[in-house]
Amino acid sequence: MSSADPASPALALSVRGLVAGYSEQPVVDGVDVDVPVGRVVAVAGPNGAGKSTLLKAILGIARLLGGTVHLEGRNVTGLPLQKLARLGIGYVPQVEEVFESLRVGENLEMGGYLCGKRERAHRMERTLGVFPQLRPMLQRYVETLSGGERKMTAIARVLMLDPRVLILDEPTASLSPEMSRIVLHEQVRALGTIGKSVLLVEQKAIAALEVSDWAYLMVRGRVVMSAPAPEILHDPRMREVFLGGAVAELAEQAR
Ligand SMILES: Nc1ncnc2c1ncn2[C@@H]1O[C@H](COP(=O)(O)OP(=O)(O)OP(=O)(O)O)[C@@H](O)[C@H]1O
Ligand SMILES: [Mg+2]
Repeated sequence: MSSADPASPALALSVRGLVAGYSEQPVVDGVDVDVPVGRVVAVAGPNGAGKSTLLKAILGIARLLGGTVHLEGRNVTGLPLQKLARLGIGYVPQVEEVFESLRVGENLEMGGYLCGKRERAHRMERTLGVFPQLRPMLQRYVETLSGGERKMTAIARVLMLDPRVLILDEPTASLSPEMSRIVLHEQVRALGTIGKSVLLVEQKAIAALEVSDWAYLMVRGRVVMSAPAPEILHDPRMREVFLGGAVAELAEQAR
């Protein structure tokens, strides 16, 4: 898929040759990723593979050392997060994604701070249409929620920005296997159903791939496999990547 023209408007997000890190030393080393409009695309990989760094580089947070990022055909390389949010990208970070001391409803209101009262109310209804489970929780403080409910609040808060593209960094981090399944199978799937373009980074690769159209497997800062998600899901090398066996070999091949 990475052979497609990065400036094509059929691609919600297109990353080419991305090199990034936190110093001169690259952590992400020449990564191509495409998210077609309306699709869910997963980047899976073990701890420390550089998945969060890839997202942070796309979002102007990590240090960009090379490569380009296009949003719906427009070159947005290196633009800061605020600007990208205005252009239609919603980002749900791996941690600290909600205000604990506020109620669920207040968190959603804050997500819609950029728009007027009427539009905010409209977006609130639409968001509760996607996650109806949140309606009876609007008055509850986030600190009283379960991990999965909290993550739903975080995603809903970002939906209040009315993004066309959602970037989710490990939405199942610190959740139980049961809760992780709910977040991926119900919440992420719901985003795909309403036509959002989603870039999903996950360490829980199997569940992530089950809800994705396309997947990239990332190891040591490089993409080692890129294929329709069901194909990667059934590729024996994937298991090995997560068990450690094939890491060195695949990383070498990607060079
Ligand atoms: N702020 C930082 N400063 C310096 N190095 C960092 C920083 N954040 C991450 N790194 C390093 O970059 C590498 C990739 O980290 P990254 O967080 O991108 O991995 P990841 O694939 O998201 O892992 P995980 O699945 O555990 O979240 C790691 O070696 C990590 O120690
Ligand atoms: Mg991470």
